[in-house]
Amino acid sequence: ALVTSKELLTKAQKGGYAVGAFNVENMEMVMAVIDAAEELNAPVILQTTPSTVKYAGLDLYLANVRAAAERAGVPVVMHLDHGSSFELAMQALRTGYTSIMIDGSHSVYEENIEVTKRVVDACAPSGIPVEAELGKVGGKEDDLECKDGGYTDPQEAAEFAERTGVSSLAVAIGTAHGVYTGEPKLDLDRLTEIRKVVSIPLVLHGASGLSDEAVKESIRRGICKVNFATELRIAYTEGVKETLEADPGVFDPKKYGKAGMAKVKELVMNRMKVCGCEGKA
Ligand code: 13P
Ligand code: ZN
Ligand code: NA
Repeated sequence: ALVTSKELLTKAQKGGYAVGAFNVENMEMVMAVIDAAEELNAPVILQTTPSTVKYAGLDLYLANVRAAAERAGVPVVMHLDHGSSFELAMQALRTGYTSIMIDGSHSVYEENIEVTKRVVDACAPSGIPVEAELGKVGGKEDDLECKDGGYTDPQEAAEFAERTGVSSLAVAIGTAHGVYTGEPKLDLDRLTEIRKVVSIPLVLHGASGLSDEAVKESIRRGICKVNFATELRIAYTEGVKETLEADPGVFDPKKYGKAGMAKVKELVMNRMKVCGCEGKA
């Protein structure tokens, strides 16, 4: 069933695990992620970025996820990832997304507070939870190249949560979008400090390429939602490529689609186990 992220993340926070949030690009990836969740009896968040939304539209992604969620026994959330404007957040709300991120982290602090609060207030009547970001997660996010640095300041995070009334908060502790060239150095003590003064669920972005241990330690220190995007794209494309390389004569999209789905499902199941959300549906 399609649900909001509110109860899922509250439960995860109490239970000391994280819900995996997986970026999807097409119907096959939607099916593979929900299939993985069903097999592990895990709650799951599917999400789309603005550039993904531009590809096929909020309505088409939601329709795919809703149909798959209705077939499934596990709770499924449809989340707008890195919502880039108040307008896009409102479009997602009207379309029926059950969770919305407004990413004002590229603006100065006061502007981030302002846009986040506007989205929170607009989503409140429908009970749709809002995720915001404070500090800058590095790497290439969507089509945007982000400068590294700008780690989340604990005191600022506490004030931000208080003033915006946001449901969950993405923090910058050294992770980056995309794959890593070297082993990333996470500022885990900073995460602990943030957790001490911020009571809402904390979100980890840029988890593709992180070691199992790094993800687990982040969860032990208070992360309740972990975002995976790049790894799924790579897995899907690997499956497609392998099929076409093995038989260049293949022209049925179902054939290579199945191979892509199998790769994505395997990856998502592994990541869910690391998040500790297996059996938590
Ligand atoms: P990765 O690309 O590192 O998986 O980051 C995912 C993410 O944070 C999506 O918002
Ligand atoms: Zn992200
Ligand atoms: Na990453």
